[in-house]
Parts: sequence; C-alpha cells; structure tokens
Amino acid sequence: MDGAILVTGGAGYIGSHIVVALAQAGHTPIVLDDFSNSALDVMPRLEALGGRPIPLIVADVRDMVALRRTFHDHPIAGVVHCAGLKSVGEGEERPLAYWDVNVGGTIALAEIMGEAGVARLVFSSSATVYGQPDVLPVPETAPLRPQSVYGRTKRTAEDFLRDLTRANPNWRIAILRYFNPAGAHPSARIGEAPTARPQNLVPLLCRIAAGEAPQLAIYGSDWPTSDGTGVRDYLHVQDLAEGHVAALGFLSENAGAVTLNLGMGRGSSVLEVVHAFERACGRRIARVFAARRPGDVARYYADPSAANRLLGWRASRDLATICADAWRWQQAGGRY
Ligand code: NAD
Ligand code: WQD
Repeated sequence: MDGAILVTGGAGYIGSHIVVALAQAGHTPIVLDDFSNSALDVMPRLEALGGRPIPLIVADVRDMVALRRTFHDHPIAGVVHCAGLKSVGEGEERPLAYWDVNVGGTIALAEIMGEAGVARLVFSSSATVYGQPDVLPVPETAPLRPQSVYGRTKRTAEDFLRDLTRANPNWRIAILRYFNPAGAHPSARIGEAPTARPQNLVPLLCRIAAGEAPQLAIYGSDWPTSDGTGVRDYLHVQDLAEGHVAALGFLSENAGAVTLNLGMGRGSSVLEVVHAFERACGRRIARVFAARRPGDVARYYADPSAANRLLGWRASRDLATICADAWRWQQAGGRY
C-alpha cells in the first residue's frame, strides 16, 4: 500500500506491536499518542525492531488541529485507531473521560480523515461489547449487551463507524473485536507495561512470579466450567498485531465496513493459564480462591472463522508461547 499508516495509541501495549508488525511487513508506520498510558522510551525500541525511523506526533486524538496538521504533513493512506481508555473499573468512575476519549476521539479522527480523503480505518474494539453470550463460540452476529461504561463506549464507536459507512460506502473500515490479548514480543523489547497495579490475568501472573505481587486471587471457583474457574480466549499480541496488517490489506481490496472477531477460537480456564504460566517460569504461583468479580461472565471464546476466511489470518501462537513471551518480557524488566 502506498503512503503511511497512522497508528493512534501506537506507543501502547497493542499499538506498539502493531507498529512493529507494520514496519516488518514493509509499511511506513507513524505513531500518534498522548502518552497518557505509555512511555516515550518505547519509541527507540520500535525503531530498532521495525528497522526504520518512526515519526511521532505527541497529541491527543481529540485534538482536531493536531490531527489536521498530521494529515497535512504526512502522506497517510490508512489509520489504525488504538488510542483509547480501556480499564473496565476506571470507566465506571470516570464515564465522562471514557465517552469523550473513546467516542469523541473516534468522531474527531473520522472527521479529519474525511476532510483529508483518507478512507481506510482499522478500529480497536473489544469482545466486551457482547457481555454475557448466549452461544459459544461467539459469532459477530451475537447480540451486543455490554455490561460496563467501557463496553458501551466501544459499542457506540462501532455503531458510529457503521453509520458512517452506510451513509458513504467509500469508507473502508474494519472493526476488530479483540478477545483477551496477552503475551509480548519475543524479543522482550516491548510488552504490556501497566503503570497502575495490573488487573488483567497474565500481567498479574508476571508480577507474582517476579515476587512483585503476593498472590493471585482467583475470582470464583464455582463457575459452570470444567474446573470452576472462568474461561477466556487468550490470543498472543503478535497474532493480534498481524491481524491488523491483514485487515489493512483486506481494506485495500474491499470498501464498506466489516466487523470481525480476533481470537483463537477456544477458551482456557484461569487454572489452565496459571499452570501454563508455572511451566513457563518454572516457579509456583501462590493463589487463593476469592469471590467472583462483579461483571465477570463464566466463559466466552470467539468464533474467528470470518477473520480466518476474509483476512486469511489465524491466531497460531498457543498459551505456552503467550506465557513464555510474557515471562521473558517480565524478566527483562517488564517496564519502559
Ligand atoms: P494501552 O493503554 O496500552 O494503549 C492505548 C494507548 O493510547 C496508550 O499509549 C495511551 O497513551 C494512548 N491514548 C490514550 N488516550 C489517548 C488520547 N486521548 N489521545 C492519544 N492517545 C491516547 O491499551 P492497549 O491494551 O494497547 O489497548 C489498545 C486499544 O485496544 C484500546 O482502544 C483498547 O480499548 C482496545 N482493546 C484492548 C484490549 C486489551 O485487553 N488490552 C482488549 C480489547 C480491546
Ligand atoms: C481473565 C480471567 C477473571 C484477574 C478484560 C476486559 C475486556 C478486555 C480484556 C479490553 C477472568 C480472572 C483475573 C485476577 C482472576 N479488555 N482473573 N484474578 O475480564 O476477561 O477481560 O480484558 O477491551 O474488556 O474486561 O480479562 O484478564 O481481567 O480476566 O481470577 O486477579 O481471569 O475472573 O476469568 P477479562 P482479565
């Protein structure tokens, strides 16, 4: 594809892996980030892994003046929009910020893309838009019943993007619903670096194995699953990043909007993840059973067949690889 790919939130966990995957696939990525949840130190690592200089715009994605300047200064052919706020718990306390950044940011970006005549957009959505699923594996046609402020902002941003495309079919938009991204780049140069106490399972396991957190509280032992613990579809962040490269390729051939699940297509229980992590790090993970976490569901995993078929993409790295790569990143410091 001619032209550069703007990655909003490109300094963050998922965005950084997308930037490297784009560079390695021969694209010219540009990062736009306000560093509200990431560190400037990631940039030289992205350039080293990507093997090229990576232009950086330090800006808020809601800043239309900065966006306009960015599209004016760079020959942008497409956008991967990862910038957003993603903590389910924080969203309940700060709904204004979550609606403003996640929905307002997407509207501002689309407006400036429209002005600049850039039609290709890949949007970071989440399986959280489904809420409690009725059928497994979850297809894209499942009802959307998000249980959190965060999930409702993602559903609304999705609706907005589909509305745009209905009104103007020149848009080329891939809405990607990620299941549970985990792991890190195998180089251990980039990975998930939560600034606050981690809340997701795999980063927590990293901290516990490294002695930086005491023990895992397993949220529920009586879920209707094979071992009583919650089941999720963990996919390697490298597979996820490659899915974005594939989606951009798909959009260069296809107009309109497409909504796709990105997941492995099978679930792992909390205990299965704990055991896989213990094998990867060679240490025992201290754990206790605790009450269920409000808002959690028993189990969900993706039906990724549409992404497999349309993008020619498949998540291939297994749970052992996810844990090994996450642990290597933790051992390298796990921070920027
Ligand atoms: P992250 O916080 O690591 O990355 C987000 C990046 O966006 C950060 O670098 C942050 O500084 C930047 N950012 C935040 N607000 C901004 C703003 N107003 N302007 C410019 N930059 C801003 O999160 P992540 O895990 O990499 O998630 C990326 C995207 O994927 C988010 O949209 C998130 O909702 C979505 N997602 C994440 C997960 C997950 O489990 N990590 C799952 C599903 C969907
Ligand atoms: C995984 C499993 C927990 C922590 C979240 C967001 C979702 C998406 C991905 C952004 C569950 C259990 C966890 C702990 C535990 N993000 N667990 N003890 O909740 O599936 O999804 O991240 O879009 O929107 O909701 O991921 O990693 O928090 O939990 O037992 O200390 O681990 O109950 O079964 P979740 P998670």
